[in-house]
Amino acid sequence: MTVLKVRNVETYYGAIMALRGVSIDVEQGEIVTILGANGAGKTTLMKTIAGLMDPEKGNLALMGNDITGLEPDKIVRQGLALVPEGREVFPYLTIDENLRMGAFTRSDSIADDLELVYSYFPILKERAKQSAGYLSGGQQQMLAIGRGLMARPKLMLLDEPSLGLSPLLTQEIFDIIGRLNKEQGVTMLIVEQNAHIALETAHKGYVLEMGRIVMAGPAKELQDSPDIQEFYLGKSDAGERGQKRWKRRKTWR
Ligand SMILES: Nc1ncnc2c1ncn2[C@@H]1O[C@H](COP(=O)(O)OP(=O)(O)OP(=O)(O)O)[C@@H](O)[C@H]1O
Ligand SMILES: [Mg+2]
Repeated sequence: MTVLKVRNVETYYGAIMALRGVSIDVEQGEIVTILGANGAGKTTLMKTIAGLMDPEKGNLALMGNDITGLEPDKIVRQGLALVPEGREVFPYLTIDENLRMGAFTRSDSIADDLELVYSYFPILKERAKQSAGYLSGGQQQMLAIGRGLMARPKLMLLDEPSLGLSPLLTQEIFDIIGRLNKEQGVTMLIVEQNAHIALETAHKGYVLEMGRIVMAGPAKELQDSPDIQEFYLGKSDAGERGQKRWKRRKTWR
């Protein structure tokens, strides 16, 4: 079953075209990653999927239902959870309250789901009654993921879960993401600048450059691609010219 189908989407900020005909697919049970440098359009794509921005052209379907132009809360009700860039937890609410907010679309019992989230993130359970604003960056990321899970989403979008985190914490977060996928069957679309860890965790990947998908394939294939190695994995052994191009890219980012 295709959980998300994005077709030829064009999204603008005023006159600036940020997405230039983007098409992607996410199948049930998959972790799909979108790689791209700063300003490539990753967050714009996430916002377009979540209904926070409307595409000028193209269409989107979630679980086979057209969601193009739908209000964000309606898309949430159809099974989408967005873990936004910068986490955006509610700092004055407790961890427990933040998690409960994630289940606002549900009327059934959420006790089991709370326990499930706490089992993946024991630190959140220890601090359940504390304000979320006191959590470290990594713990806030865990809380944001936990809050997303509380909705029992059909698809979870994660926008740069590694942002501002140490390599060790990034690894820890991605290990948990991998486990949630394997053990709970959570389907995820993850936007990441850390191509190394994203491709280790994902089944499939797309590369977004200046609003366009320029490469797509199984994560293993992308890992082996010389272009990906040079520009996204930093394994440039293409000589001086390659090094210069890499540097230029870095400046451009
Ligand atoms: N509010 C805005 N108004 C105008 N242009 C914007 C706005 N937000 C983003 N853009 C532009 O749209 C393009 C895509 O931005 P976007 O935030 O989607 O990139 P990104 O891949 O998420 O980057 P980052 O890795 O820095 O988060 C960029 O050229 C950016 O300057
Ligand atoms: Mg972004």
